Amino acid sequence: MQRPDWAPDTIDIERPSVARMYDYYLGGSHNFAADRAAARAMVDAVPEAPLMAQANRAFLRRAVQFLADSGIRQFLDLGSGIPTVGNVHEIAQRADPACRVVYVDVDPVAVAHSREILAGNDRATVIQEDLRRPAAILGHPEVNRLLDFSQPVAVLVVAVLHFIPPEDRPEEILRTLGKALAPGSHLVLSQASDDGRSETGERAEAERVYRRTDNQLWIRSRAELVTLFDGFELVDPGVVWVPQWRPESPEQAEDAERSVFIGGVGRLGG
Ligand SMILES: C[S@@+](CC[C@H](N)C(=O)[O-])C[C@H]1O[C@@H](n2cnc3c(N)ncnc32)[C@H](O)[C@@H]1O
Repeated sequence: MQRPDWAPDTIDIERPSVARMYDYYLGGSHNFAADRAAARAMVDAVPEAPLMAQANRAFLRRAVQFLADSGIRQFLDLGSGIPTVGNVHEIAQRADPACRVVYVDVDPVAVAHSREILAGNDRATVIQEDLRRPAAILGHPEVNRLLDFSQPVAVLVVAVLHFIPPEDRPEEILRTLGKALAPGSHLVLSQASDDGRSETGERAEAERVYRRTDNQLWIRSRAELVTLFDGFELVDPGVVWVPQWRPESPEQAEDAERSVFIGGVGRLGG
């Protein structure tokens, strides 16, 4: 298959990537045949997959709006993905053009496309890093050029923790980030959960599909996600199915568990 201009030479387009599968669920065009085949296999296993992605994006938008309304002016978005509709810098800078945003992703396509859409925006940038290396992120010159850690920062880890299994010590990653943050900073987490779903084999099938990628799928319960907010005070309504997190209308929260995603926002006191 012909490699489009936007595809960095370094990527293996025969191996599905979670960033490009997610782009496909959202109706984007930055994906290849291998990504689409894996995404379709996922939809066969879990028909809600596109709905999950949309519900998660809607949660991300509401959370960023909430943070901007709460006075947050700095955002560090880890596992930010291939840009799509309603990106963090668009929402934050609409609320206040002075908002500064750093995107971090390990996927070269996500980084290349983010760099392209951020050209000319001197208050937003992207770096290619692995969020399992929080010290490298915190010490990165681009991060320190835009973010002032003596002031509150919102750290977003949205729809990515399910790619960080326990052996990667997510609690230590979040603790390292939390220690660098000033009081009034916030943490936004969301991830896939199968709480309350009957065992139909769909989880095993979803895990099997994601084994084709570089990222393994690690589902967590609500109780497990709550523990990852350690040190942060959960903002109302706590960790819930993402459509239930401050919906803009009652209809938005209907059939919330079909989103398969749970999420919440925590605030660092002190
Ligand atoms: C499902 S997408 C979520 C994108 C965005 N946060 C959102 O909620 O719409 C997951 C993203 O996390 C990225 N990712 C996965 N593991 C990562 C890691 N260890 N470090 C940085 N990014 C990672 C993937 O490349 C992908 O772009």
